[in-house]
Amino acid sequence: MGAIITGWGKCRPPLSLTNADLEQLVDTDDAWIRERTGIESRGMCHLETTDMAEVAARHAMAAAGYSPEDLDLIVVASVTPEITCPSNACVLQERLGAVNAAAFDLNAACSGFVYGLATVSSMVSAGVAKRALLVGVEKLHFVMDYRDRNTCVLFGDGAGAVIVEPGADDAGVLAVDLGADGVIGSTMVFETLGTRGELSRERDPARNRLHFEGQAVFKIAVKGMTESVRRALERAGLSTSDVDVVVPHQANERIIRAASARLGVDDAKVVVNIAQHGNTSAASIPMALTDALDEGRITPGDTVVFTAFGGGVTWGSIVMRWGNRAHRIDSSDATLPAPTGNVFDLLAPNRAFFAELHDD
Ligand code: UT7
Repeated sequence: MGAIITGWGKCRPPLSLTNADLEQLVDTDDAWIRERTGIESRGMCHLETTDMAEVAARHAMAAAGYSPEDLDLIVVASVTPEITCPSNACVLQERLGAVNAAAFDLNAACSGFVYGLATVSSMVSAGVAKRALLVGVEKLHFVMDYRDRNTCVLFGDGAGAVIVEPGADDAGVLAVDLGADGVIGSTMVFETLGTRGELSRERDPARNRLHFEGQAVFKIAVKGMTESVRRALERAGLSTSDVDVVVPHQANERIIRAASARLGVDDAKVVVNIAQHGNTSAASIPMALTDALDEGRITPGDTVVFTAFGGGVTWGSIVMRWGNRAHRIDSSDATLPAPTGNVFDLLAPNRAFFAELHDD
């Protein structure tokens, strides 16, 4: 039995951090950021990950024509959970009133949505779940240092959600490739969101921010996504010429273009929406998928490829044949409440916390 996607939705927080805003915070400029990354603006969430997850989930449920009680599984992929016990998924279940759903979180960093889709679709195909909600959500500004230009220009907050359920035998997931290499895990680290975190009242700013090695990650990403897509297509018995749409993790437009060129996939088939969102880690693929569907770029029967890489290091690709519906059954008016302050107000405590690490 194939597992298909029947609902989709996203939450882009109302506050934006533009390149012009960043010019006021760090020594950077709009031209550098656009040229090196393709990013123009990022969403910044004034609330919690569950708030964004709820909005995305309500849009996805409406698109599939379901109410919360119809769900029997909720999986939340995130590297920035609001809380670890109860899990984000359980907090979301309570918020939605999805009383019939099992719920758990999953962490594969930026590959979280692909790992999540592999997990959820396998459970649906095995008959363990019938109507699953999968959410990728991140509040990445929480792990940034808005005085460090090497990292803070790249990331944004957001959520994307899909509903996965059984479809016809000839539709759904055709092949999966998942992998990890912990040996090179030190290239992307956030040290203190687990039990390595300090008991001290004086948290050390140097340990409370993302550490990453940009150039090393760039090369790992291009190679990792290219090889993973090739393996997944081979398992599906397909070649790149059979692919209609690629929805890649949105880490950097240059990474996406380099991987597409190596694969020999036309740029027109590749969904890129990083300009308005930045890198939203586990949320980036379901947000890009939502845009692609709402723009009519995916039609029933299309061969769609999802591919990602991320911290761990992890990677993964999924080849899916789209089901017989690429339009929403219904829509939702769910949205985040408006913030009271502006983006500089939101980031003021962050900048105060990290001030001691910087000369300016
Ligand atoms: O989901 C996975 C998460 N990680 C990623 O996706 C990141 C992957 N890596 C990248 O996207 C790229 O490596 C970056 C965008 C982070 C950097 O691009 P790059 O072309 O590799 O630049 P670079 O690291 O070689 O830096 C070139 C210069 C350096 O100055 P010097 O040493 O040549 O004088 C940097 O200090 O650019 C400087 N620089 C900046 N300049 C203006 C670094 N960040 C900035 C900035 N604004 N924000």
